[in-house]
Amino acid sequence: MKRIMILSAAAFVLSACCSQPKFEGPVYLNPNAHVEERVEDALARMTLEEKVGMTTAQSKFSSRGVPRLGIPEVWHTDGPHGIRPEVLWDEWDQAGWTNDSCTAFPALVNLAATWDKEMSLLYGRSIGEEARYRKKDILLGPGVNICRTPLNGRNFEYMGEDPFLAGAMVSPYVKGVQENGVAACVKHYAVNNQEFQRTQSNSVVDDRTLHEIYLPAFKAAVQEGGAWSIMGSYNLYNGQYNCHNKKLLVDILKGDWGFDGVVVSDWGGCRVSEEAILNGLDIEMGTWTNGLRGAASDSYRNYHMADPYLKGLREGKYTTKELDDKVRRILRLIFRTSMRPEPNYGRFVCPEHYQAAREISAAGVVLLKNEDNVLPLKVAEGAKIVVVGENAVKKMVVGGGSSNLKTAYEVNPLEGLQNAFGDKAEVVWVRGYVGDTSTSYNMVDTGQDLTDNRSPEVLIAEAVEAAKDADYVIFVGGLNKSAHQDNESTDRYDTFLPYGQQDVIDALAEVSDKFVVVNISGSPVSMPWEDKADAIVQGWYGGTESGNALADVLTGKVNPSGRLPFSIPFKYEDGPIKTERQYPGIKEEGDQFWQTHYDEGVYVGYRWYDSKNVPVQWAFGHGLSYTSFEYSDAKAAKASMKADGTMKISVNVKNVGECDGHEIVQLYIADPVASIDRPAKELKGFEKVYLKAGETAMVTFEIDAADLSFYDVAKGGWNAEPGEFQALIGSSSADIRATVPFELK
Ligand code: GLC
Repeated sequence: MKRIMILSAAAFVLSACCSQPKFEGPVYLNPNAHVEERVEDALARMTLEEKVGMTTAQSKFSSRGVPRLGIPEVWHTDGPHGIRPEVLWDEWDQAGWTNDSCTAFPALVNLAATWDKEMSLLYGRSIGEEARYRKKDILLGPGVNICRTPLNGRNFEYMGEDPFLAGAMVSPYVKGVQENGVAACVKHYAVNNQEFQRTQSNSVVDDRTLHEIYLPAFKAAVQEGGAWSIMGSYNLYNGQYNCHNKKLLVDILKGDWGFDGVVVSDWGGCRVSEEAILNGLDIEMGTWTNGLRGAASDSYRNYHMADPYLKGLREGKYTTKELDDKVRRILRLIFRTSMRPEPNYGRFVCPEHYQAAREISAAGVVLLKNEDNVLPLKVAEGAKIVVVGENAVKKMVVGGGSSNLKTAYEVNPLEGLQNAFGDKAEVVWVRGYVGDTSTSYNMVDTGQDLTDNRSPEVLIAEAVEAAKDADYVIFVGGLNKSAHQDNESTDRYDTFLPYGQQDVIDALAEVSDKFVVVNISGSPVSMPWEDKADAIVQGWYGGTESGNALADVLTGKVNPSGRLPFSIPFKYEDGPIKTERQYPGIKEEGDQFWQTHYDEGVYVGYRWYDSKNVPVQWAFGHGLSYTSFEYSDAKAAKASMKADGTMKISVNVKNVGECDGHEIVQLYIADPVASIDRPAKELKGFEKVYLKAGETAMVTFEIDAADLSFYDVAKGGWNAEPGEFQALIGSSSADIRATVPFELK
């Protein structure tokens, strides 16, 4: 590395003395000056009012720049799945632009289900290009809150139940976005795992659980992804609002992790002036105008960090210490984004983005069950395929809350199948059930009228009649991002299918022997009807190209390689949450807040089910392929590893089936002899490997002491205790193919 550094230094000197014209003008405007030089120069030129001005919103989605110095305002935009349609200056109402129909990329849970870091980088680059083209500086996403309860309304916006998977998958997305000179804003920091009473709920979490489960994905986004901004969440943690939580923002994020970016409040998440000023909030957004449309035009001056802050500074209540830190961070973000050295202009709704959306979504589709290889579909000339269900035709890029999108088009599952078979087979659709027929979500119109006043009996009879002589029956149901069905600010009430879908499945199973059920959802759906279906596919909110992506998998054009990013229980009650106190929390007489106690500790998701030997319907990491893989010769490179060393664990994987495909080899660590209770296994590695039919590859994992550690509260840090460990290598958390013991010295 040293040699390379010398070379580049020489090259720099050479180029500096020859080609670069001497920049005339203030340092902060010099694109070739070091960011920190630009920051200090700009800061020194700003007045007190200008500094305070930068720390608050000036409109619904922008915060102030410094007009006098030619430092632009900062434009924020939702969301994690695509660039939200423009809203009015101070309202949530649509601005009615005609040039802001974006590419809707798959929901982040769909990305997580790919277990593919390359796909995550492609996603980040693509959505970053769209944000750049729309001249946005901060993309309000991705979200990485852990799926603690299957009922959380925003699981679809996040990356599953495991911190290692979420951390590994979020970092490439962040890098891809930021390559475009757009800041990713990782949210919602932190322990924000339910929508119920989200603005008045206090998460009571012990330190070990906080560090082992709820922080790692954020830490990875900051330290591996290099995130330039973070969004504080609405809820409280240990009694303090998270948008100005000293422990989370000052001590951990900016202290321990060395975060040099900007903390943005959630819209309306800032509540207390003094805490906001002293506890690390940098930009206050959406106060009072958080969807309540209560804003008076001058409400921005009343923001907690606007005139009250200026008043406090003038009265000497505050020095400029905190203010200068906030402004340095905001300037740093501006010099990384709108005033970045290399201007680029991004791309919007281009074929490459549509193709990326299609590939990413297809790579995350999970084949749960495939009896007698009923899939992929084998469709003869003139065959009849009956598609049943509202989710086969319902627009899904809308809904869900702030992540909803306006797109130029959306290919639904019915269209995807018609595109695949249209000229060869008869592809007909029947309603099957009526779900949500709203024509607008969060002020984005669907352009659909799904009104249907027929009774369930009539609808089922119609579906059965159509199915009787069909070669294949494909039921497409699930949830739909309407209220309580995967939607911000509303959690679900249970994990079963709504709208009487099970009755339709039961009836269709009676008349079809090639019956495929596609569940489209962003959170776990229990399937008591599992034995009724010959094949079951977990589909997702796949974005603009969702229908084509699903058809690619059903037809075999894409061999499914998706793996579940969360466990799917037989029923909600099997999970780790047993009391109201745990979820949705309890509100004592006189207490302003709901108290949500994370009593289950680290036993979240498969950590709970595996450690307590509770069977699940579908396990974390589960997913079938159209081929199959055998594992052999799993071994450790040596019998033991030192605390400051590493250990290589390798395994041979062979594709023993008829078609090429991807396998996702998963590495879990078990610590059978530990001084404290630890989960039966914890994901610490995964590799996606492509194997042609008959091909074998060796997959090698390299682990270190950090991978073996638990968070030791007594020590206030990570602790890998010497002794025996086991590397569990498998095709899912419930399909361990090899156990490799080794010792930590
Ligand atoms: C919402 C969401 C947040 C979103 C913000 C702006 O309430 O919690 O994810 O980015 O407000 O719409």
